[in-house]
This record gives sequence, C-alpha cells and structure tokens, in this order.
Amino acid sequence: MDVWILESAHAVAVKAADICGELIQRKPDARLGLATGATPQALYAELIRRNRQDHLSFAHVETFNLDEYLGIGPDHPQSFHRAMRDSLFAEVDIDPANTHLLRGDSSDPVAEARAYEALIKRRGGIDLQILGIGRNGHIGFNEPGSSLGSRTRVKTLARATLRDNQLGHPDFEEPIMAITMGIGTILDARALVVLATGAAKAEAVAAALEGPLAAICPASAIQLHPDATVVLDPEAAADLRLTDYYELVDQARRRLPRTSGRI
Ligand code: PGA
Repeated sequence: MDVWILESAHAVAVKAADICGELIQRKPDARLGLATGATPQALYAELIRRNRQDHLSFAHVETFNLDEYLGIGPDHPQSFHRAMRDSLFAEVDIDPANTHLLRGDSSDPVAEARAYEALIKRRGGIDLQILGIGRNGHIGFNEPGSSLGSRTRVKTLARATLRDNQLGHPDFEEPIMAITMGIGTILDARALVVLATGAAKAEAVAAALEGPLAAICPASAIQLHPDATVVLDPEAAADLRLTDYYELVDQARRRLPRTSGRI
C-alpha cells in the first residue's frame, strides 16, 4: 500500500488528478472507476481544470460508477447519475455513451447488477478505481458486514450512511437501498486510489489501513490489493500508527528517479 499524507485537501485532489492524468496520457482509452460523495469533488474540479487548461482529454475515456440508490432514476436530484453529470461529465469532453452507471430505477435490480458486472468484464476491466471511505468504513455501498468477496448487488444502507448522506427530503421517499459494485468487483480493478480528507474519516482510515482485515470495516479489503494508493490530508491521517514509517517512505521516494515506480 502506498500511503501519501499531504498538507491539505487541495493537495490530495491534485495528487489524485496527477495519478488519473498520467494514466490517461499513457492510455487515452483508460477505464476509470468513479465515486460520488463530497470527497472526490475537488478531484473532479481539478480534472475539469486540466481538461480546459492543460488539454487533458476524456474523449476516449470510459467510466464506471461504483453505485446508485435503488428506486430513483437518472434525473432524480439525489441520483448519482445527476451528481456525476453536474460535477464532471457535463464539464469535460467525455462521450456520454462511455459513462456507465447502475440504473437505480431498473425493474429488475438483480439483473441490473449482473449485467453491470458483465459489462465491466466485457470492456476489459477497470484500470483505476477511485474510492472514498465512509465514516463507517464502507467503500461503495458495501456496508459493514459485507462479504469481502462480494460482487455487484443490491445492499441495504446502514443507518450511519442514511444520516451521513442526508437522504431525508420532504419531497422524496428516502432511498434505503442501493446497487453497488461488490468488494470483489472493486478489488478486480488494476489499481485503486483511495481518498480521505477531514477529521471525521480518521477512525475509518486507521481501521482500513492498519486494522485487521474484517467485514466490520469493508475498506480494510484494500489491504489485499497489490496496487493501492491512499491519499490523505493530515486530519484524515490523524489516527494512523505508522505515520513515522510513511514519512520515511516519502523521504526514500524522493531519492528515487520518477520511473522507479512504487516502493
Ligand atoms: P463522502 O463519502 O466523500 O461524502 O464522505 C464517502 C463514502 O461514503 O464513500
């Protein structure tokens, strides 16, 4: 695991954009796994900036989102379809046909989940999956207790998630379920980039990176991935025990030529 503790949430976004940008430069038709929520918003803003100012092109990029609420359609104001359109897709040169999200309003969510798994496979798998971490340790909507080998499926949301995502709205029936890539699906991505910022994530980050591999913290499954990069601000890193070691790794990295890869 490659752990970066950077000075600010902005630096986290820039680092994540560097990783995405390098991949897209190397492989213009890269397949990106994307996440919604507050954390990746600064990354998407930075990617939009690079698309406009640095000519980072998404023309051949294909995307797969992690999850979607069950029972709501792509135009629903709380849908992740809408969130992705607003925060990234409408602002860059991506072909909407290349943006894939689960349909929360599918009449057969079980079939929808299976078809999504098949689509990811058929397209050749995800090159780089962006992940946030929930305060309860979830990745995607794989809530505590999820099978570490799970595939894309319907999941009931945890109470903590319902609270954190502020789903209550006087005009809508609150979604209490979602369709989400499974933990096994996520681990099949060739590389993972996990982002966390802010003090509210410190406990979940420590459990994910340094705690036991356990279903109580689904994000701990990233310990199994051979190419996982974790990018944190100091607040999200505050409960880590190996900080001194991560600093040593950072010093060692600076001595290596850029092409040497991870250490
Ligand atoms: P957040 O969500 O980025 O809004 O904190 C993270 C997550 O639930 O995965």
